[in-house]
Amino acid sequence: MKQILVTGGTGFIGSHTCVELLEQGYQVIVIDNLCNSNAEVLNRIETITQQSVIFYQADLLDKVAIDAIFTKHDIEAVIHFAGLKAVGESTQIPLTYYHNNLTSTLLLLDVMAKHQVFNLVFSSSATVYGENNPIPYVEHFPLSSTSPYGRTKVMIEQFLQDAFVADSRWNVALLRYFNPVGAHPSGLIGEDPNGVPNNLMPYIAQVAVGKRDKLSVFGGDYPTHDGTGVRDYIHVVDLALGHIKALERLAKQTKTSIEAYNLGAGKGYSVLEVIAAFEKACGQPISYGIESRRAGDIAEFYADASKAKAKLEWQVSMNLDDMCRDAWKWQSENPNGFSEG
Ligand code: NAD
Ligand code: UD1
Repeated sequence: MKQILVTGGTGFIGSHTCVELLEQGYQVIVIDNLCNSNAEVLNRIETITQQSVIFYQADLLDKVAIDAIFTKHDIEAVIHFAGLKAVGESTQIPLTYYHNNLTSTLLLLDVMAKHQVFNLVFSSSATVYGENNPIPYVEHFPLSSTSPYGRTKVMIEQFLQDAFVADSRWNVALLRYFNPVGAHPSGLIGEDPNGVPNNLMPYIAQVAVGKRDKLSVFGGDYPTHDGTGVRDYIHVVDLALGHIKALERLAKQTKTSIEAYNLGAGKGYSVLEVIAAFEKACGQPISYGIESRRAGDIAEFYADASKAKAKLEWQVSMNLDDMCRDAWKWQSENPNGFSEG
């Protein structure tokens, strides 16, 4: 049985990836400290798949605990999702972000090397393209970032490049996600942000379910077709499937490598188009007002997704309507996320 270690496996993207791994016959071991997730997700994963994951509530900064997990299990590959991810918060507590995201990754890599586990799929982000590259973003573009969060992604990519140059047993896929949204079609798992959502789709969903009064559209004067920001939204189940394709490629290729892949649809939608699609999905109007631009935002970005298509044999299968339908099902059936009441 192939054992895959999933760090951050109770989080939004990790939980959806666990479902797809289990459904494709992998045995899944999750490490998460639950700092931004809820253990209830494990029951939901079990309900969907009729299988269970092996779960360790542990902090990746606890090297002794991580080492013991590697000793106990025969791990073939690691998918490394664990990390703090809020751009705004990272500017408030940058050292916490650097410690949590960078130190934990260095400790994980050390333990992996000790146990001769060199297959790694890493959660990177489109944020590594910074703000000066032309669109669509292509993997070979120069990297930079505008926030401490984004810099942790750029730095971890660099750690892994350097590790590979020094020791070619490393075999790494750097997956640069565009804007993951939606939820599992069962409505049992989905995004469960703490407090006020930072991102567009969960905010719209909370307006639709009556938890927020109205959406602020950040900027109506961008040089885009309707003046609002354009992003490459990707259904989280499509994204999860991209991880399976990356694992398969690491397993089957005859020579190790480190490769970056954009995981996006290759198509952008504006904020107003997302609102319209969500209104269609939930059957009611979404109240919104156009306000000033959010600091740090850029007008438009989307992926050149051709490398993932050619090399991972992966492409998105779901469109914006599917994303809104599943986000609405999750939100309307779980208005308080994984918390009761
Ligand atoms: P998430 O917060 O839902 O999941 C991350 C998980 O990591 C959480 O369950 C959290 O409890 C856990 N975690 C954090 N620090 C930990 C530590 N030190 N030890 C153990 N567990 C720890 O986030 P997500 O949206 O599922 O994102 C997963 C990964 O993908 C992150 O690395 C994120 O930066 C990256 N990413 C996310 C997006 C997005 O829009 N969601 C976009 C690009 C990249
Ligand atoms: C944000 C992060 C980015 C991260 C990405 C992952 C910031 C500045 N950037 O990107 O680093 O990789 O999430 O998902 O946080 N919008 C509104 N009203 C809202 C929320 C958003 O109009 O309440 C607009 C934004 O201006 C943007 C679009 O909706 O045009 C998408 O925003 P969001 O979901 O926050 O994603 P990004 O800004 O692309």
